[in-house]
Amino acid sequence: MTHVGYAPGKLLLSGEHSVVYGHPAIALPVSLGVSVYLEPTDRPLELPNIDPRLSAAWRSVLPSFGYRVRIETNLPIGKGMGSSAALSIATLRALASAKGFTPTFAWLYEKGFEIETHFHGNPSGVDHALCAMEQSLWYEKDGPKLEPFGIPTLRLLIMDSGTKGNTGELVAGVRARHPQNESILDKIGDLTQEIGHTLKAPHPDMKHLGSLLHQNHIQLQALGVSTPTLDHLVDTAIKAGAYGAKLSGAGGGGIALALVENSEPIADAIQKIGYDCFTIETHTPKESL
Ligand code: MEV
Repeated sequence: MTHVGYAPGKLLLSGEHSVVYGHPAIALPVSLGVSVYLEPTDRPLELPNIDPRLSAAWRSVLPSFGYRVRIETNLPIGKGMGSSAALSIATLRALASAKGFTPTFAWLYEKGFEIETHFHGNPSGVDHALCAMEQSLWYEKDGPKLEPFGIPTLRLLIMDSGTKGNTGELVAGVRARHPQNESILDKIGDLTQEIGHTLKAPHPDMKHLGSLLHQNHIQLQALGVSTPTLDHLVDTAIKAGAYGAKLSGAGGGGIALALVENSEPIADAIQKIGYDCFTIETHTPKESL
């Protein structure tokens, strides 16, 4: 019998990199995700040829005999939308189904850490925590502190830089420049707190929120994780009328997000400079949290 596990991808609204140093992050699930199928065979474990780190991660948790792994995804891979974490959690859900138990969050979080460590060396845990919880999250790695976080309806334009970032290398690069970059990480921590306060207001001030997101991008630039293309996407979106924009995820490629009122003119401007984009809306009703 084939066993399947699913997990959604994520967006980081704020806190990438600084979350590794104990500052908070605000993360949202997206309606794109990954399904992992464990198909029975009578042969040693067969893996799709995607990435050697993923193969190592799969071999660390899956039985060495009797399954073929197949994945289906509509989530862009390696673009800062949590694809490795979604693959990890979807694999664990399929494995739990094969073993005949319902996975708890604690099990997914602990095992997810082991898998994510194969990818990133030193993950904060925010990505796979979000994929396992499947709801907007305020996350601090110490504790860890994981709180469902009510996000009002936000319209976000997701802009694809066309290249992939390597999260492990980017996190290691920030570590290599630590503690000289500590004040930048502190500033991103402060911005995340202020973004959190702004989102909690009964009628969040979108202009202020946009400005905070853009300030966050400028700090990520200073941290050395942006690219000329990400900067170009952010500037183009703001010039075309976005409230604010920032890279999202580890950087070094991947995606940037823009907070918009009406996405059309901004999407036109992004497509005119040759990049793909799509719009998403966040949906978490505050009163449900
Ligand atoms: C990657 O989505 C987020 C980073 O902060 C790494 C992590 O938190 O493990 C760059």
